[in-house]
Amino acid sequence: MTGIAVLGTGRIGRMHAENIAAHPRARLAGVYDIHAPAAAEVAAQLGVPQFDSVEAALASAEVDAVLIASSTATHADLIEQSVAAGKAILCEKPIDLSLDRVNACATKIAGTSLPIMLGFVRRFDSGHAGVRHAIESGRIGELHQVTITSRDPGMAPDAYIEASGGIFRDMTIHDFDMARFILGEEVTEVSATGSRLVDPALMQRCDDYDTVTVVLKTESGKQAIITNSRRAVYGYDQRVEAFGSAGMAISENRTLDQVRLYGAEFTDRAAPLKNFFIDRYADAFAAEIGAFVDAIEQGKPVPVGFEDGRQALLLAEAAILSAAEGRTVAIREIG
Ligand SMILES: NC(=O)c1ccc[n+]([C@@H]2O[C@H](COP(=O)([O-])OP(=O)(O)OC[C@H]3O[C@@H](n4cnc5c(N)ncnc54)[C@H](O)[C@@H]3O)[C@@H](O)[C@H]2O)c1
Repeated sequence: MTGIAVLGTGRIGRMHAENIAAHPRARLAGVYDIHAPAAAEVAAQLGVPQFDSVEAALASAEVDAVLIASSTATHADLIEQSVAAGKAILCEKPIDLSLDRVNACATKIAGTSLPIMLGFVRRFDSGHAGVRHAIESGRIGELHQVTITSRDPGMAPDAYIEASGGIFRDMTIHDFDMARFILGEEVTEVSATGSRLVDPALMQRCDDYDTVTVVLKTESGKQAIITNSRRAVYGYDQRVEAFGSAGMAISENRTLDQVRLYGAEFTDRAAPLKNFFIDRYADAFAAEIGAFVDAIEQGKPVPVGFEDGRQALLLAEAAILSAAEGRTVAIREIG
């Protein structure tokens, strides 16, 4: 049984703690949050120890690995501390909002053989992974285009948006990783555009966008198109489509149930979409823990690692520059 401590028990850390506790090959070794009552509540609910510091968690012989689910600004420091303590890591995205800080962290942990996995959970969604599998198994021929639609059900609170680092680093980062996953090769060019259509005043204040479209291109000419909105009134819109020389593969939205109704005045009426990322990707979050435990126990490579986190941030930086300057940006410009 792999003992995993959760660092940061907010919205997502609490869910990860529950998933670890429920996993047959993992043991929740304890929880820590800088805001002690948050950790106390999870520790009491799941019957596990509450650590009183990061250092105490990392010093515990019961802890083989850590799941970093604290605020983004703490991730790079906690990765460095955890590597120094010899613990395997599953870190929530993004590694950091600054590419320089991510690069400094990469230098500091270079050469470690510890598993370091990034929480790009969508790779573990059976639908999205099925699209990748269809490509790998030749079912759609040669891949030409990928279309990723990712729209949040509603605007996050102002304070969240203000601290998010902007839509490309905060939200599109998942889609940059999904594009790399589905394309199966590195992106060389990025063209992005952004608009302020949902909450223009807030976006103006934050120098951010709420509505963006990004076009990515690889060396061989494969294309990916990403569309994001901070608000879709019909729910959490998450679709991935791959188009190739011999066909197409689509990962569709998830509705609250699988029933389709037909009547005299309507056809194919479905329940609303799942509205919250924790519900929509519940299976994927559980599978992510399984993949992490496999990497630790079986010495397998992590399916998505630190460099994937760095590459996604590179694409975000390229998109920010592209949208600001209204031109296509080559990834080599970002470095
Ligand atoms: N994979 C995904 O789909 C996904 C979704 C949401 C959030 N996230 C990421 O997860 C992270 C947490 O997001 P959230 O929505 O749970 O935020 P949150 O604000 O609800 O929780 C963050 C928690 O971290 C704690 N914390 C802050 N500094 C700490 C430190 N030094 N040590 C320990 N705990 C500390 C806070 O007290 C808080 O309880 C963010 O990096 C976010 O980008 C990923």
